[in-house]
Amino acid sequence: MAAPNIETIVSLSKRRGFVFPASDIYGGLGSSWDYGPLGVELANNIKNSWWRWVVYERDDIEGLDSAIIQNRLVWKYSGHEATFSDPLVDCRDCNARLRLDKLDVDPEDSKAMCSNCGSKNLTDPKDFNLMFRTTVGAASSDDDESALAYLRPETAQGIFTNFKNVLDTSRRKLPFGIAQIGKAFRNEVTPGNFIFRTREFEQMEIEYFCRPEDAPRVHQEWLDGFDNWIESLGISASNLKHYEQTKEELAHYSERTVDILYRFFPEREDESKQWDELMGIANRTDYDLRVHSKKPEDAEGKRINPDSTEDLSYFDPQTNERFYPYIIEPSTGVNRTLLAVMMDAYEERTNDKGEVRVILKLKPELAPIKVAVLPLAKNKPEIVEMARKIKKDLQPSMRAVYDDTGGIGKLYARQDEIGTPFCVTVDHESLEDNAVTVRDRDTWSQERITVDSLKSYLADRLNK
Ligand code: GAP
Repeated sequence: MAAPNIETIVSLSKRRGFVFPASDIYGGLGSSWDYGPLGVELANNIKNSWWRWVVYERDDIEGLDSAIIQNRLVWKYSGHEATFSDPLVDCRDCNARLRLDKLDVDPEDSKAMCSNCGSKNLTDPKDFNLMFRTTVGAASSDDDESALAYLRPETAQGIFTNFKNVLDTSRRKLPFGIAQIGKAFRNEVTPGNFIFRTREFEQMEIEYFCRPEDAPRVHQEWLDGFDNWIESLGISASNLKHYEQTKEELAHYSERTVDILYRFFPEREDESKQWDELMGIANRTDYDLRVHSKKPEDAEGKRINPDSTEDLSYFDPQTNERFYPYIIEPSTGVNRTLLAVMMDAYEERTNDKGEVRVILKLKPELAPIKVAVLPLAKNKPEIVEMARKIKKDLQPSMRAVYDDTGGIGKLYARQDEIGTPFCVTVDHESLEDNAVTVRDRDTWSQERITVDSLKSYLADRLNK
């Protein structure tokens, strides 16, 4: 079972402290979200899983953390200044501002229909550039072009401009990749669906450099690899599928892009509308390293980039060839991954009193809290003291919390709902036998374990 819709996760997130609307006390700011105590842990655990899998468990990837604000020329030569835009239309009947490429088309006359009121009375499309503008330094005015800069709309460009730095300092040979996690910003025309499409979000991107003839094979290997990684997060294969972008949909730099889609909208009757992009894996060819290099020339012999001071080509000592490597780019959104993980982990179960309980069946690796230590009687100082000590002893090796703010049934239910794999209960008998009850989130089964073996018992099960 997965969540029946995104709304279920919105309300769980707010109720339990995963995600809150940003600037809420001032009426919010459309589609801006803050990650609360549990949300920040879940997001960090997803990012750590990705980083470990990509950077530590492979021998061919280096990490990077490049600046959010770069020289404006980066965005000029990447093509973003000229082409990173959405076609914007206004509905003349209801005044909604819409993205033309996301509207349904009436099959009878091929005209786009307003998603708000159904009208076909739309203005001609205008290109709307999605990059957020800012000024750097003490600019004379807001429209001082010499101070103009952008908030990056993707982390990728910081990787391309550092290609030579990383190559030279790490003494890498092709094929190798550079990985980066960081914020990106897009002034989306139609943000929405909770954290699915926002104007500020986080990406986990790999730019993998290879010989041109190897690119199709490497592309396929990354697709297979990411299918496995996403499933390792607990997301069911039946809620995932691939989508091959058409020639018309491809970004200006891409030869082939395959999106991995997740069933974000299971409530929609039309099955084909249940899916949307979780991540994309593109073959960016040698486009990026070429356009940022000082040497390449156009058909008339003019440098395509007269501003760059560097040539980002690669010399292969084995074949004595110099060329611009091809790039395979797996690009994943942290926020969409978090949403998919929560939706897929969501389960409702009826207990023997007929009450419906929510269980977030997160993989232990991703769970914000690994174990909750609960005293059965909070008015008994010895029990409280023992529970607090157990929590303190567990804390260095796993995220543990102590909670005595309710009856045991309520405390279990609260931990189930936030995905805590284990609850440890300290009772009167614990004072006699130095043992505790360990309750499993998924089966609700209970086991008596001695305090001395508790840490290794939990560690074994958490690492499964
Ligand atoms: N460097 C390539 C690139 O940025 P993209 O398909 O535009 O490609 C990659 O973005 C991923 O970033 C998407 O698959 C999605 O997970 C995430 N993403 C993009 N725009 C987003 C937005 N407005 N809100 C949340 N996540 C977004």
